[in-house]
Amino acid sequence: MANDRGYFALALQRILEDGVALSVLKNDVATEDRGYFNMLMMTTLRQLAFIRESVLPRYIKKKIPHKERILTYLLYLGGAELLFMQTPAHAVINLSAEAAKRLAGQFGANFVNAVLRRVDKEKAALCALQNGHYFSRNFRQILKQDYAPEAVKAMEKYAGVEAALDITLKNTADNPLADGVVLPTGSIRLPANTKVSAIPEYAAGKWWVQDAAAALAVKGLGDVRGLKALDLCAAPGGKTAQLLAGGAEVTAVDISESRLATLKENIQRLDLADKLAIVQADALEFTPTSLFDIVLLDAPCSATGTFRRHPEIIHTRTVDDVRRQAALQKELIRKAAQLVTPGGKLVYATCSLAKAEGEVVIRNFIAEQPEFAIVPASIRGTEHSVTKDGFIRILPHTFVTGENTVLSGADGFFIAYLQRKI
Ligand SMILES: C[S@@+](CC[C@H](N)C(=O)[O-])C[C@H]1O[C@@H](n2cnc3c(N)ncnc32)[C@H](O)[C@@H]1O
Repeated sequence: MANDRGYFALALQRILEDGVALSVLKNDVATEDRGYFNMLMMTTLRQLAFIRESVLPRYIKKKIPHKERILTYLLYLGGAELLFMQTPAHAVINLSAEAAKRLAGQFGANFVNAVLRRVDKEKAALCALQNGHYFSRNFRQILKQDYAPEAVKAMEKYAGVEAALDITLKNTADNPLADGVVLPTGSIRLPANTKVSAIPEYAAGKWWVQDAAAALAVKGLGDVRGLKALDLCAAPGGKTAQLLAGGAEVTAVDISESRLATLKENIQRLDLADKLAIVQADALEFTPTSLFDIVLLDAPCSATGTFRRHPEIIHTRTVDDVRRQAALQKELIRKAAQLVTPGGKLVYATCSLAKAEGEVVIRNFIAEQPEFAIVPASIRGTEHSVTKDGFIRILPHTFVTGENTVLSGADGFFIAYLQRKI
């Protein structure tokens, strides 16, 4: 697909109305346009609540008819680009008006042109109004159920900045990434905007991309050498790779064929496929012939903790999504528990910020399954993130604090370690 604003506006519409992931749409864009497309979309999605609620209402007094709503998407893109990117204003305005003409006729072109001209004229004053407004009303509502206003505000700050790139090493003694900062938890952190393809030794399979918080679930298991592990929702395989690199024998289950194909590719690149069995199945129906020393349930969830890397989540998730995922998680953990050998461990993790998908799932599970007990989490570098129940609860702003932004922030994550009584 060429560098076409009409296409970009339709892509934004699909993200916001149909819940299509940005990472999926990126594949339809020509390689040479992909970097620009990604930056425009990420900037627009980060700034969308501000543009929609604080910028455009100044210039649009009448409701745009539903059948011409593509104009609104053109204005979201154009507004974000004029205010927060370096593209020359005349290019933004002309290309947006041309696309509007194609999609909604001369009226559309005039309208988009007039609004964007005013945004450009008042750019300095408008930019000064943006003082940390990134979350949508729905997203705020999810967080308000569990966190005080100050905590929500602190998390919101992280929605406005690009996340650093975190790497997990296959062998910690063999670090090819001289530029990286070694975090207290062992992940290597590279500056935001680092090109993955530019990092050495990718093809040699010495590392993989994994958020520092996501890397904790397996780290907290300690020595897994020789153990039989089941990764029940495994793709794309970040945690499977950690288990294999640690010396476990792993069965990786996932419902998604395409995501399992990515897992397979990743594990082959890392040369870790020797002790791996891959099974495509619904975890709720998976019936192995024997039990496992470790069962890892990295459950499907609202993914609200990943809003820094996936800003569309800020605009697409609702309290209902959290409720729906929590109901599935309840079923999945019951199933996972049946597959743990006596004395074995069950690890439950989600990248959700909602306690309904974390703390509440585990408390309810323990109440109905007395043969499982909580093992308090103990992972170097996360001492201040252990809750009074012994869970790990990482919030984007509480991971590694400090003045250095490179060292700060991680995906929101919840982890619980449970042990089956003998
Ligand atoms: C949070 S992601 C897992 C990430 C993975 N553990 C990693 O570290 O790379 C959740 C996964 O659950 C899978 N999934 C969703 N519902 C499932 C089900 N009923 N059975 C098995 N897998 C499922 C999804 O396809 C998705 O790959």
